[in-house]
Amino acid sequence: MKPRFIVLEGLEGAGKTSVIQVIESFLKERDLLVINTREPGGTPMSEAIRGCVKQNWDEHVTQETELLLMYAARSQLVNNVIKPALQTNRWVIGDRHNWSSIAYQGGGREIDLQSLEQLKQLTLGNFEPDFTIYLDVTPEIGLARARGRGELDRIEQAGMDFFVRARKMFHSLVEQSSKACLIDANQDMNQVHHDVLEQLSNWFATIQVGE
Ligand code: TMP
Repeated sequence: MKPRFIVLEGLEGAGKTSVIQVIESFLKERDLLVINTREPGGTPMSEAIRGCVKQNWDEHVTQETELLLMYAARSQLVNNVIKPALQTNRWVIGDRHNWSSIAYQGGGREIDLQSLEQLKQLTLGNFEPDFTIYLDVTPEIGLARARGRGELDRIEQAGMDFFVRARKMFHSLVEQSSKACLIDANQDMNQVHHDVLEQLSNWFATIQVGE
């Protein structure tokens, strides 16, 4: 079976980490080889960029700098890790990908979507996930969970309006896509895992038929 790129998206505190384990088990039970990636991050250089975007600086970080760093990290990851993995029969589970830039920098920071699309074309061309699972959590619940894990990083400190706009953008991305599903991640985590497995199984059945 041809390996696929599955992506998890969602606001902070949506529960991506535990859902990734559920997806990994699902694929491994079917004897598929799997690697995990995260964005920004996943290569030595991209991990350094991750530290850079998350930390607080004694200078203003412009939204353009933040945006370019996200795409720089993504370009390294896609070319050095994700594409080689897919070419060598390994499935990839991505903790965030391009939709995070559209939601956070496009929705949250209100950078125009045309500029984002140009950057996407420049760095990734037509490369896209095969399936995206969006974990939908309200900013109130998500940020409370994130706060429970410790101090909020630079992006997490952006304020409620930022996250409301980011969530709205995620909703519109899911609505416009035929390769994505929305899971209510405000529910208890057992129910979230159950719903994810249901959606994943349905999608998996459709690609098996197409092979
Ligand atoms: P997280 O993956 O641990 O949630 O941390 C990544 C942070 O970076 C999170 O606040 C979302 C943010 N982010 C963007 O703003 N744009 C992006 O394109 C990506 C991948 C992440």
